[in-house]
Amino acid sequence: MKDLANEAMTIKLDYDLPEYPKMDPQYRRAPRRESHLTQADKLLAIKNALRYIHPDHHAQMAKEFAQELEEHGRIYGYRFRPEGKLYGKPIDEYKGKCIEGKAIQVMIDNNLDFDVALYPYELVTYGETGQVCQNWMQYRLIKKYLEELTDEQTLVVMSGHPLGLFHSHKMAPRVIISNGLMVGTFDDQENFNRAAALGVANYGQMTAGGWMYIGPQGIVHGTFNTLLNAGRLKLGIPNDKDLAGKLFISAGLGGMSGAQGKAAEIAGAASIIAEVDDSRIDTRYTQGWVSHRTGSLEEAVNIALEHQKAGKPCAVAYHGNIVDLLEYLYEKNVHVDLMSDQTSCHVPYDGGYCPQGLTFEQRTEMLDKDPEGFRKLVDKTLQHHYEMICKFHERGTYFFDYGNSFLKAVYDTGVKSICKNGENDLDGFIFPSYVEDILGPCLFDFGYGPFRWCCLSRNPEDLHKTDMAAAEYIKAHNRRYQDYDNYVWVRDAEKNKLVVGTQCRILYQDAMGRMNLALKFNEMVRNGEIGPVILGRDHHDTGGTDAPFRETSNIKDGSNIMAEMATQCYAGNAARGMSYIALHNGGGTGIGRAINGGFGMVLDGSERVDTILKMAMPWDTMIGVSRRSWARNENAMTTVAEYNKMYAGQDHITMPYLADDKLVEDALKSVEG
Ligand SMILES: NC(=O)c1ccc[n+]([C@@H]2O[C@H](COP(=O)([O-])OP(=O)(O)OC[C@H]3O[C@@H](n4cnc5c(N)ncnc54)[C@H](O)[C@@H]3O)[C@@H](O)[C@H]2O)c1
Repeated sequence: MKDLANEAMTIKLDYDLPEYPKMDPQYRRAPRRESHLTQADKLLAIKNALRYIHPDHHAQMAKEFAQELEEHGRIYGYRFRPEGKLYGKPIDEYKGKCIEGKAIQVMIDNNLDFDVALYPYELVTYGETGQVCQNWMQYRLIKKYLEELTDEQTLVVMSGHPLGLFHSHKMAPRVIISNGLMVGTFDDQENFNRAAALGVANYGQMTAGGWMYIGPQGIVHGTFNTLLNAGRLKLGIPNDKDLAGKLFISAGLGGMSGAQGKAAEIAGAASIIAEVDDSRIDTRYTQGWVSHRTGSLEEAVNIALEHQKAGKPCAVAYHGNIVDLLEYLYEKNVHVDLMSDQTSCHVPYDGGYCPQGLTFEQRTEMLDKDPEGFRKLVDKTLQHHYEMICKFHERGTYFFDYGNSFLKAVYDTGVKSICKNGENDLDGFIFPSYVEDILGPCLFDFGYGPFRWCCLSRNPEDLHKTDMAAAEYIKAHNRRYQDYDNYVWVRDAEKNKLVVGTQCRILYQDAMGRMNLALKFNEMVRNGEIGPVILGRDHHDTGGTDAPFRETSNIKDGSNIMAEMATQCYAGNAARGMSYIALHNGGGTGIGRAINGGFGMVLDGSERVDTILKMAMPWDTMIGVSRRSWARNENAMTTVAEYNKMYAGQDHITMPYLADDKLVEDALKSVEG
């Protein structure tokens, strides 16, 4: 049995162990992760990791893995990390037997780029814990499989583990990914932590484990839309004006939250973003994503107020805790127009939220030495943070939860007054999630969502050409203010220097916009105007994600706790031949709180791809609009009615009859007596 695996496999890690790579100390490292393993579990975790290793090296690697487990709470297999910088190279530099095999390698490497990833050595792309896969053995093996993959095979990846290649057909997905999907009874953080430490569960976040992260740009457009529309809805800003003269306060300059300052600037606002980790401020400042940085509360507030007064935008990074900033602003009677938070509250006790009174370094140390004490401090700060927000709310500030589970985290500390029904979270919270008030009705219900593409040549010229083509298309199809916003966004995208890593773009589009742009780009590839392109989207979208505290928080027919839409979306994308598809547990809100999925679609200029795009692109979006229409959301119903007309004889979506409230109340009263 000992040699059975070695003889039976042709695709496996190289026999010789790689040299242990040098780690560059300038890059951030993940804190120790919680695991609560028994002695038997620890043995199992080490044995599990050894499944990738030739038995001749077990004695050496068992010790290395044991050491990693003790030190980090996880086995990352650091020895197998290729030394130096990983990045999404031009596609022609990758080996492979089909274009998808090479394209997917570009995306994986882009997710692990030092300039892009949050903890590159621990394979964490963003969101504190969102990993490409669990360990570097998996990374190497996935790459080997992608090099061998043909256009008649499908690679199956389960929580980062490449299960194997299975024959399929040319119109089938080339890779099918799932991450962290757990059986209901065990679907909680504690069981997940144990499974992750055993090496059998990966937290994919959204685009980290779906290999479609494009740097913080991916969220800038959504944040820009959210801020601008919050201004329109709550501050009375006209549709053709921006947030000039308004003040926005938030926290977090990490993987995704790093977009907040940039988005506020593009939307015209003065903003201060608090961040406890100076190295993240450094990254955002060097990239030009924040305009000022300071550790002084007085200076931060003065800079912002000067800009606000002059109607000029700015993004000030304040190095310190958000709660300190809120206390200072309150004491100085500064009026805040818009307020949010984007700390990693989906994992507050895992390092996602820094308690008041601790520096970032002290937080990391305490996480390691006294996790229980850390928990208590987190709870105390979250409660105080919430009290401060309530005080600002009384003074007229509009606070919204920006999809990081902040309100849920406060509720989990035992604060019931944060619930709409004063009891539990079933009816949501007293402050809206940004999807409930803004993104849902203004964008998702129409189908507008985070369509994105990457130019696989890494050539900025290709991105420029696609930007121009997109701007031209939107200008010619300008139906409502959302289209105009999208036009302005893509017109100015290059000027706003949004690219970090590969040459990618995000552009909110509805079902038809996504399909038509996809077809246009494929035509450009066919004509040789540009190199190959990969399309994708964020999971933070109208259709791909079931998340009652976020994406589906404006679904009010009781189905917000169901996870069928995301599952159907994923299955439907497989059936229609998207190049790769992903389904995850947890998304941006945490284990057990979301089922979310995404896709990647390689444009090689072929007719085959045109056929897939015509089937898959409308499906991927309209499933979300259909669900929203069935939940009686007005804008979604109008969009579905138009779609039924447009696709008559081909697609047909069921629509709800609307019942009169009074009639239903009377009917119920009449039988209750
Ligand atoms: N709304 C969306 O579209 C969307 C998209 C992606 C992610 N998210 C969610 O947003 C959150 C942040 O994502 P990310 O990728 O930026 O995570 P991240 O962990 O990279 O960044 C969070 C940052 O907050 C900082 N921070 C933590 N506590 C703080 C405090 N008390 N004061 C000041 N700074 C503090 C951390 O140092 C870190 O840099 C996650 O919960 C994620 O799931 C939302």
